[in-house]
Amino acid sequence: MLKSEKTSKQMGKHTGAPANILLLMSGSIACAKASSLISEWSKQGHKVRVVCTRSVAEFMGPSSLQGLGAEMVFDNVFTPGQAMEHISLGKWADIVIAAPATSNLINKLSAGIADDAVTTVWQAAFGQGKPMVIVPAMNTRMWCYPATKESVLRLKKWGIHMLPVGKGELACGEHGEGRMLEPVEILQTVDRLLTSDPQARGKCILITAGGTRERIDSVRYIGNISSGRTASSLADELTAAGHLVTWLGAEGAVQPESVNRLEFYYSFADLKSWLKTLLGSGDYDVVIHAAAVGDFSVARVESAEGGSLLKGHGGKLPSNSDLVVHLKRNPKLLDKLKDWSKNPALQLIGFKLTDTEDPQQRLAAVKKQLDNSGVDAVVHNDLSDISKAGHRFRLHTQGHKPVSCENSGALARTINNLLGAVS
Ligand SMILES: Cc1cc2nc3c(=O)[nH]c(=O)nc-3n(C[C@H](O)[C@H](O)[C@H](O)COP(=O)(O)O)c2cc1C
Repeated sequence: MLKSEKTSKQMGKHTGAPANILLLMSGSIACAKASSLISEWSKQGHKVRVVCTRSVAEFMGPSSLQGLGAEMVFDNVFTPGQAMEHISLGKWADIVIAAPATSNLINKLSAGIADDAVTTVWQAAFGQGKPMVIVPAMNTRMWCYPATKESVLRLKKWGIHMLPVGKGELACGEHGEGRMLEPVEILQTVDRLLTSDPQARGKCILITAGGTRERIDSVRYIGNISSGRTASSLADELTAAGHLVTWLGAEGAVQPESVNRLEFYYSFADLKSWLKTLLGSGDYDVVIHAAAVGDFSVARVESAEGGSLLKGHGGKLPSNSDLVVHLKRNPKLLDKLKDWSKNPALQLIGFKLTDTEDPQQRLAAVKKQLDNSGVDAVVHNDLSDISKAGHRFRLHTQGHKPVSCENSGALARTINNLLGAVS
């Protein structure tokens, strides 16, 4: 059965308490599809209020939206007698969902424009700790337009739940990315965000990605070969499996497509500071520490002739003599993560990369991490497991046989099982 063919009974599988849902609609061909959400939520016992841009009236009228179960439809901040509605609607809501979200709306939200009912209500609702969700719908070229891509990234960085777009035939007859997700998938996401049952909600997962870089001067750095590809693939797969994922990645790393939050680090010190901040919030159930953290930071740089101190001058160092770069050892971040976590039940998954053919040496490296770093599991890969043809891993836990994973997708499924499967 196609996802779109799911019956209303299946769509109505809801577990949480009744909630106040604020649906913000903009002018897309997907308005009709999005409006079916109103009747589903109403059937589930939720209260639904709708805010529309002016273009929505070209696709459907306020009476149809009310007929589907919306207890109010608001489309003009200057409506007589409703002067404070643009503020009070955000306070009333338990969750705010922009669906369908046009390219125009997404770009306006990221630019901070508030020139109509939808954009004004959105801004006034932001920052109150409520889940805010965007469900994009548009033509492929509008989705790929550079401004739209940047706006999507920006909104994700602000903690907005940006749902992915579907691929296939579009309403305009073209083929590609940009279709709005099917209502059943939107209902499931909203259900998960509203429920207080952690099993149904999925875990809050922090994934670190890419490699640290240590500045030698303003243009040169010491880095490592990590691309961040595995961590980003895990982030996408675990998001799709229903978890709330924060990706904390190196500035140059491969980025995931559909996580809940993106943050960036540059150096060891940056990464350490981010980890302390995020884990100190107590929001995270799981950390998957896949970042390749440099073992050394640059302590000072000297001219080889005369040993005069160069680092600290700022700017680009001269290239007319040899340099001596002094490195200081970094402490192991992995060992500290459970100490920094406000959640005492944090689950920790470490990564171990080896470069040896000797199976005993490989096992010893894994065992050292399992025994000494407070980790619940170790993902082991050897340099010989990484090739153009693919990337293999083994997941080790104390007292169990390692699980072999042929690629990052299989690794994500194995980790998902380890965390306790979510619906
Ligand atoms: C039939 C039709 C369908 C449209 N569908 C979409 C769409 O799916 N996504 C989109 O971004 N724009 C779509 N547009 C264009 C928007 O309606 C237009 O950019 C409008 O200014 C958006 O305004 P709003 O974001 O304030 O609602 C469509 C226009 C027409 C005429």
